[in-house]
Amino acid sequence: MSVAILAAEFLTRMAQNLQPDQPSASEQYLGEDMTTYIQWNNDRAREIIAAHALFDGAALPILHALQFEFGFIHEEAIPLIADALNLSRAEVHGIVTFYHDFRRDPAGRHVLKLCRAEACQSMNGTGVAQDLLATLGISWGETTPDGSLTVEGVYCLGLCACAPSALYDGEPIGRLTLDTLADVVREARAP
Ligand code: FES
Repeated sequence: MSVAILAAEFLTRMAQNLQPDQPSASEQYLGEDMTTYIQWNNDRAREIIAAHALFDGAALPILHALQFEFGFIHEEAIPLIADALNLSRAEVHGIVTFYHDFRRDPAGRHVLKLCRAEACQSMNGTGVAQDLLATLGISWGETTPDGSLTVEGVYCLGLCACAPSALYDGEPIGRLTLDTLADVVREARAP
């Protein structure tokens, strides 16, 4: 999760007057990556938007909930959210594009998030990640042609002691090596 989105979450928690042990409307979706997303449909999206529209700072909880359900933020979500929150389409588009956590395209069947922050960099996280991307023939944020795996960058998972670290479908993995990642790719491609 990016620093920017953490800051936004902090402000949302303040606005919602939440206790430390209470998850905010967005936090209930964080760190979760479903491996079976449902296909985009406007009716379900409207239900999700309506269920979150009355929260303070509703845009982020809505976007997290939509991504949790569909795996990405469909272009058609922009006008639906804008209408529900009385925002311009440009404002909603600006929020979606500002936070790298929100995908604009469908994810693969599995999602691997590799930490790109300092502690992981210093333990060869960059080298391991570049080797993986080169082997898969994709760039950051892309999905393998067979649709099995999306690889995304994140900035500190709170697992610095086990650097370099990653999340695979929401499960933490520490002390990454090329062998560990080869196992992840094999598992992702398994039928
Ligand atoms: S820097 Fe990678 S988990 Fe903290």
